[in-house]
Amino acid sequence: MARVLAVASEIFPLVKTGGLGDVAGALPLALAAAGVEVVTMVPGYPAVMAAIGGAAIGGAATGGGEAAYAFADLFGGPATVVRARAAGLELLVLDAPHLFDRPGNPYLAPGGAEWFDNAVRFAGLGAAAAAIGAGVAPGLSFDIVHAHDWQAALAPVYLRFHPGSRPGTVLTVHNLAFQGRYPAAVFPRLGLPEAAFGIDGLEFHGDVSFLKGGLSWADRVTTVSPTYAREITGAVDGMGLDGLLRQRAGALTGILNGIDEDVWDPARDGLIAAAFSRGRLGKRGLNKAGLQQRMGLEADPAALLAGVVSRMTEQKGLDLLVPLIPGLVAGGAQLAVLGSGEPAMERAFAAAASAFPGRVGCVLGYDEPLAHLMQAGCDALLVPSRFEPCGLTQMYALRYGTVPVVARVGGLADTVIDANAAALAAGAATGIQFAPVTLDGLAEALGRLLRLWGDRPAWARVQRNAMAADVSWRKPAAQYAALYDSLLQGRV
Ligand code: ADP
Ligand code: GLC
Repeated sequence: MARVLAVASEIFPLVKTGGLGDVAGALPLALAAAGVEVVTMVPGYPAVMAAIGGAAIGGAATGGGEAAYAFADLFGGPATVVRARAAGLELLVLDAPHLFDRPGNPYLAPGGAEWFDNAVRFAGLGAAAAAIGAGVAPGLSFDIVHAHDWQAALAPVYLRFHPGSRPGTVLTVHNLAFQGRYPAAVFPRLGLPEAAFGIDGLEFHGDVSFLKGGLSWADRVTTVSPTYAREITGAVDGMGLDGLLRQRAGALTGILNGIDEDVWDPARDGLIAAAFSRGRLGKRGLNKAGLQQRMGLEADPAALLAGVVSRMTEQKGLDLLVPLIPGLVAGGAQLAVLGSGEPAMERAFAAAASAFPGRVGCVLGYDEPLAHLMQAGCDALLVPSRFEPCGLTQMYALRYGTVPVVARVGGLADTVIDANAAALAAGAATGIQFAPVTLDGLAEALGRLLRLWGDRPAWARVQRNAMAADVSWRKPAAQYAALYDSLLQGRV
């Protein structure tokens, strides 16, 4: 079985800004169950250093970890790779204070702009992973380097130009919208040969694109759902990289994400008001009451409580929901929103909460425990994304019996079965899908949602089907394991 070095810029529960963190944290555990050994390299942000028990710079062993390798100068300062275990994860922490000793969001400076030196910070991550993957550290050897998203995408690029033997490389794209694109002036600082900056390499419209480099030179490319894998080879969702992705079609596959069923389990979730299961749905009402109270909503068990848990960006399509709020409220529903992101969107939801007191509630910010109560207490979860590589919140919703209302795109299309007449009759429906992703499309979906809510026996059937859906990592982990195996066999 393959030994894999995963490389990721976030990992739950140590650091998370979205689904990437969830996946980087859960996939190694699922792969371990499938017999694949994974060690994950993550940047030594303060939260990560604290979790492993202190700093290691200088080569000293730390409380929880052991210095495995030291770089005298990694893009402007010394760095140590610390082997450690935290939260059940096997880690190689890249302790490079000049790059990562910055509190808060891993990518953004106080004030909300990207850190000025993100190109160099994540080139450091890629270069360190490539060096370790190539075997510089005594006692550490890997068959595969598996990079996640643009922040890690230079690892396969450095390995491509590494002299001598090298491990197989996989790049997983969690979101093609984030490419790590920088002015060409950055290129000389990356320590790559001139040949790397070409039309078949890092060069993208005159700039440097980390993601394009990885897409060009990783042995295999995966993305996080089969539908998104198809969509990104077309002009609409290809974000300028569709030509390259078509060229690499033979190396590209879509493997759906799973969810961590230990973290997201309504029967054992300590972050919700009352545990419940498919056979004991009655208890769900206590979570709804708790959420209504928390969100400043009227205690109204009969009202459909629809929820949103999301980053607020163009991708997520929440701007389409704003004008439909008055109709939703007129239809007797309540809306609870947990999210943060673009200021205009935050203001729009805050304004809706003021306009409809007791019927619309809004918490702006990032709140992991509240995200659990939202899944347990809402009746429906709205995910009107314009594109969605996989999406995890709709899968958490399925597991919690929260009927997902989703745009028919990407992983949303692959994980929810629409409650049309045929699917209802066959007992297969798990939620509501809509297309196209427009105001009218969403309006119609909300109309269907309210009608389904009006038919409680049908609602309960959909809810039970949803809770029985397989959203585990079992099948995806087996697919990754098979991918690693095929890559290794191809290289023999
Ligand atoms: P994306 O990664 O594009 O944001 P996903 O659906 O894959 O979308 O993953 C989002 C993850 O972030 C989920 O775990 C979700 O619960 C969480 N999340 C998003 N917004 C918030 C928030 N405001 N507070 C707490 N958790 C959030
Ligand atoms: C990205 C995508 C999301 C996906 C997540 C984990 O953030 O936007 O759709 O679920 O990565 O793969």
